[in-house]
Amino acid sequence: VKQAVVLLGGRGTRMWPLTATVPKGLLPVAGVPFIELQLRELTSVGVEQVFLAIGSDHEAAWREYAPATDMAVELSVEDSPLDTAGPVAALLDRLDERFLVLNGDVVLEGSLPGFVDQAPDFPAVLALVEVDDPSAYGVVMTAPDGRVERFVEKPPPGEAPGNRVNAGMYVLERAALAAFPSGSLSFEKDVFPDLVEHGKIGATTIEGDWLDIGTPELYLQAHDAAAAGRIQSVELASSGASWAWISPDARVSSEASVVESVVLPDADIGAGAVLERAVIGWGARIGAATIRGATVVGAGADVGDGCELAAGLRVAPGAVLEAGSVSFSPPD
Ligand code: GDD
Ligand code: MG
Repeated sequence: VKQAVVLLGGRGTRMWPLTATVPKGLLPVAGVPFIELQLRELTSVGVEQVFLAIGSDHEAAWREYAPATDMAVELSVEDSPLDTAGPVAALLDRLDERFLVLNGDVVLEGSLPGFVDQAPDFPAVLALVEVDDPSAYGVVMTAPDGRVERFVEKPPPGEAPGNRVNAGMYVLERAALAAFPSGSLSFEKDVFPDLVEHGKIGATTIEGDWLDIGTPELYLQAHDAAAAGRIQSVELASSGASWAWISPDARVSSEASVVESVVLPDADIGAGAVLERAVIGWGARIGAATIRGATVVGAGADVGDGCELAAGLRVAPGAVLEAGSVSFSPPD
């Protein structure tokens, strides 16, 4: 397999407000743009040409990134979103008989060589991982020969038929997509169910630390994994069980506490700030506030003294929260 398509479009809604500024695939994990992790994996299986399928909204950021990477990457820009399979179908003329497709927000280090080698012989093959709660994923049921018998995208909690899910990594043959019309097309809703019906899709389970940066909590968990030394291509120092990633371009007062949090470039964390499982966007200013619970502060926002942000709150880019304006606790 010499070619790959990485799916990097869509709105990144679940990672808003970070994705207002930076596309999901360029969000840094301990300073390393996520796409780099994927490109390293693709290099490890001998892929030589990578198409980055992107939306036009973040085109400028990708144009700036593309020349900076070692890999031969080519941008494929959609004027209007083509969903997950549409961007691949649109590239079919440029693709070899067999190629890889990756969702742009997942990676499992060291898994691609085994996946590509052991892929059962079907026009489409999915990599599967086991998860505790499959309700946010595509649940896949297979026969002993690896044939996929059922593909259920995002079953309601408690109703999943199993807990092996689509890891967002596919080996495809051109034939798998040849019969579909051009335009917007979904792997999960259109292509996979159709291939299941025709017995043309297989799957194989991969092992290891599967990282998905699709939500703030998962984004923080990717840092947990890095701090525990479970991502080789990312270095994140930890003291005991806890870590903090603070951009060298951010300012953090010596009287602030930053625990299991990400502080992106140009942010300013003032004295008395307490961060615990927080993500602070580019250039945001944090006063003597408490921010926890996978809360995300957008780029350039200003969080005043005495604010208490928790429970996955999202602060819009540039928003100004007056001192004490948001709190979960009654005043003293
Ligand atoms: N180019 C392009 N155009 N890419 C898109 C578009 C689009 O219109 N829409 C979504 N994508 C990209 C996203 O950037 C992401 O990398 C990938 O396609 C999957 O979209 P998500 O929105 O992240 O899907 P999901 O996380 O809900 O579910 C998918 O991933 C799971 C694994 O993380 C599904 O494939 C599930 O079956 C799977 O389990
Ligand atoms: Mg996702």
